[in-house]
Amino acid sequence: MVTELLSPTAENIEKCAKLLRAGEIVAFPTETVYGLGANALDGSAAKKIFEAKGRPAANPLIVHVSNAGQIDLIAHINEKAQLLIDQFMPGPLTLVLNKKPDVADIVTAGGGTVGVRMPDHPVALALIEKAGVPVCAPSANTSSRPSPTMAEHVYEDLNGKIPAIIDGGKCPLGVESTIIDLTGQPRVLRAGAVPLSEIEKVIGAVNTDVIYSNELNSMKTPKNFVPRINMMFSAYFTGMADNINAYYDQLVMRSEKPVIFCLDWRKEKYGGRSVILMGETVDDYARNLFEKIREAEKEYSVVIAEGVPKTGLGVTLLSRLVKLSHGQVI
Ligand code: TXA
Ligand code: MG
Repeated sequence: MVTELLSPTAENIEKCAKLLRAGEIVAFPTETVYGLGANALDGSAAKKIFEAKGRPAANPLIVHVSNAGQIDLIAHINEKAQLLIDQFMPGPLTLVLNKKPDVADIVTAGGGTVGVRMPDHPVALALIEKAGVPVCAPSANTSSRPSPTMAEHVYEDLNGKIPAIIDGGKCPLGVESTIIDLTGQPRVLRAGAVPLSEIEKVIGAVNTDVIYSNELNSMKTPKNFVPRINMMFSAYFTGMADNINAYYDQLVMRSEKPVIFCLDWRKEKYGGRSVILMGETVDDYARNLFEKIREAEKEYSVVIAEGVPKTGLGVTLLSRLVKLSHGQVI
């Protein structure tokens, strides 16, 4: 199959909406990461997503909608869900709710709940709107690869396996949506682009037990989320740079090719060692993480990533570092 890379014109969005209606799968930009979409009401369409990604059937897909009315068709909205919908949708938040029967079983991995999200991206919204159906979509990477934040990443992973990718440039947030399970006591399933503190302001305390698990309950296989490159990260403390430098030098002696992920202003602390700059702030670091991992893989054998404070998007970033490194903290 030839994979077309399409610019996000109205004509191309219409073309991709048509593909979705015809039971095909298409990759498209969202404000978080690129998604690989199919009609969520069509089981055989959704099956193609699992095949293209090599995704285990036990791992359910998030269903994307273009307006609040569509949520009603696929899920039961409770009081807390309504509050979060009003506050954060469209936006980088996914709610797990009890599902309605129209959603294809394969989408929810046979379970009785469905993840619902309304992306805050004009191309994604237009595509879903034009398709006229809710669109199930995981991140558009091959299973076990970092989420794609640029159309090139999708192409790298899925060229020849899907008919089209809409190129919307770099995703503005670069890290996936926050997932909250509201089917019981509110519980975070994945820290993400909406900081938890913002969510707790609206619905009160949320159970956060799984955030730093490197085997998140939503990550069903041990293979999930492994970059090709070996990763580790440093605990965040005053002596962090010395700690990282000591590890870096040991790795060089073992003939590894390490690189340090650091915030721009901390660069000098690493002397002449190889660094990849992650931006000015922790939010930039989170936004750039997946892109920089794909970049680092081309040249280095090990990433040593700086740790960050556990506040705001620092929580999200650390949860990704824990998973990517399999908990290898130095
Ligand atoms: O930002 C995002 O959420 C991106 C964009 C494309 O929307 N999507 C995304 O999808 O990250 P995915 O499939 O790569 O990650 C979604 C996670 C999976 O780990 C899945 O197990 C979990 O959400 N999930 C989906 N539906 C669920 C459900 N009903 N119950 C529990 N977990 C669910
Ligand atoms: Mg994913």
